[in-house]
Amino acid sequence: MLSQKTIDIVKSSVPVLAARGTEITKHFYKRMFKNNPELLNIFNHTNQQQGRQQTALANSLYAAAQYIDQLDAIVPAVKQICHKHVSLGIKKEHYSIVGENLLAAMKEVLGDAATDDFLYAWEEAYWVIAKVFIDMEEELYKKAESQPGGWRDFKPFVVAEKVKESSVITSFYLKPKAGGPVPPYLPGQYITVRVKVTDDTYLSNRQYSLSDAPGKGYFRISVKREAEPNKPQGKVSNYLHDHIQVGDEIEISAPAGDFFLKVQDSTPVVFISGGVGLTPMMSMLNTIAKENAERSVAFIHAARNEEVHAFKKDVEELVERLPNASKLFCYDQPIEPENADITGHITKDVLKDYVKDGADYYICGPALFMKAMVTNLTELGIPAEKIHYEFFGPAIKFDQI
Ligand code: HEM
Repeated sequence: MLSQKTIDIVKSSVPVLAARGTEITKHFYKRMFKNNPELLNIFNHTNQQQGRQQTALANSLYAAAQYIDQLDAIVPAVKQICHKHVSLGIKKEHYSIVGENLLAAMKEVLGDAATDDFLYAWEEAYWVIAKVFIDMEEELYKKAESQPGGWRDFKPFVVAEKVKESSVITSFYLKPKAGGPVPPYLPGQYITVRVKVTDDTYLSNRQYSLSDAPGKGYFRISVKREAEPNKPQGKVSNYLHDHIQVGDEIEISAPAGDFFLKVQDSTPVVFISGGVGLTPMMSMLNTIAKENAERSVAFIHAARNEEVHAFKKDVEELVERLPNASKLFCYDQPIEPENADITGHITKDVLKDYVKDGADYYICGPALFMKAMVTNLTELGIPAEKIHYEFFGPAIKFDQI
């Protein structure tokens, strides 16, 4: 239980910390990686370079501090982060390392402004927040372990099949190296792939959505190759494309993530994806086909053109087969315009035909695409709780776009 004095100090210092928050977190990361370089095996170096991780951590800590006396309010946001942490194998003891370096970073950046009272209050508050994370993560780990074939942290899998889905997207079918069952998961969840990219000193971790329905005896991820070879975002994806072949081994974490289709619901669903953001939607659509074939479903997908468009045939076949399914393919630079259902962008005018009573909307794609889709749907009167979306990479703000 925090004292009122601690609560007051922490709350009143939030504006100061928010103003210098990124400075503190940048210093914190530099410090922590110097003292504990082994953590570079866990953190995404590309996100670090872009400052996205620093911003995400700073935002979430200050948001949590603001709600230090009513932590229930931040549970949904914490849950999303915990799923990400669990998929990266974050452990209880890591919180001591983070806490120690964060407190020291506050002191070093703020100087005399960081009084003993201030540092004491923040240390207390950090551990209250950290405990919320640690407890929730332990619950998620236990749940993952208890599944048939389930595990904690990372487990070796073997590539059973590699299938080209478009000029830029390739699927990898993964099976446990030691045999045994593949655990169930919720359509929309992701796994972390951990590899050592040629010549790198540290391991690289990346999350990929599972792109097929659960219960088929394998995990499938569908990975986009980055067109510009030197673009840091494509480091692991391009490595998988170029170096990982059938029979090769990669380590993966158990499925995680709180962006998923509620399979048992019967509400109409509208999937809206941009580019490789269609991967979780493929898992959701395939699950509906398998388990709830009568459900009303619309699959709206935006791609640059028909060459980069993955799973075109699969979606067409499913739409043909399912009694209440439709699709809309939108290309902004089609090679042959007649190959698109519509050309240009998915506008509010396009989406108004998909406004249905009680429908749930699932969106995945580049951040700007998602922002546009969420804005369109909101302007069409869709309530926020019916709009579900997931960021690639760190979610920058608690209240997001
Ligand atoms: C991701 C907050 C503790 C490692 C994140 C994200 C947030 C966050 C907001 C971004 C989530 C997203 O992707 O949307 C926090 C807070 C912590 C904490 C508030 C303490 C209370 C830790 C600890 C570790 C850790 C102890 C391990 C040393 C990571 C890693 C990522 C991450 C590796 C993935 C992002 C990347 O690699 O770029 N955390 N975190 N975090 N966190 Fe934490």
